[in-house]
Amino acid sequence: MKISFTLNSNATKVDVPPKTTLLKILRNEMGLTGTKAGCEIGSCGACTVIINGEKKKSCIFPADKLEGCDVTTIEGVSAPDNKPNDLQESFLEHGATQCGYCLPGMIMAGEVLLAKNATPSRPEIKEAIADNLCRCIGYIQIVDAIEATAEKRAKGKGAA
Ligand code: FES
Repeated sequence: MKISFTLNSNATKVDVPPKTTLLKILRNEMGLTGTKAGCEIGSCGACTVIINGEKKKSCIFPADKLEGCDVTTIEGVSAPDNKPNDLQESFLEHGATQCGYCLPGMIMAGEVLLAKNATPSRPEIKEAIADNLCRCIGYIQIVDAIEATAEKRAKGKGAA
């Protein structure tokens, strides 16, 4: 089945085998391995992408439901020169990196939050990443990084 959708701002058409997930399409068909495969049962958030402005777990998102969707992966949030954007830089600055496996999902969750709430409180940031698991338990640094980016963007210093 041919599916047409927008992927990281580009019109995309892909042949989708039956019962395939978006995660498998991204990683296996399109070579976009920034989106991580963790539990693959919708529990860890490593595979989080943005679909139509909402965070979604791509491991449980049926690829045949993609028609007409606007999908952003971690590869699509970089600055125009393909450098890390302000939120990614903030993760680096705050040491919110550790093993890195959860980071793409955390960053996507952070981007969705900041798009909806430019000045989130720390509890709101914690809530936004509540279903993204970090096995290194680096949550404080992750919250710090998202909070600092919100403050920078509010002052017009973001580079998204
Ligand atoms: Fe999708 Fe864990 S890999 S939620």
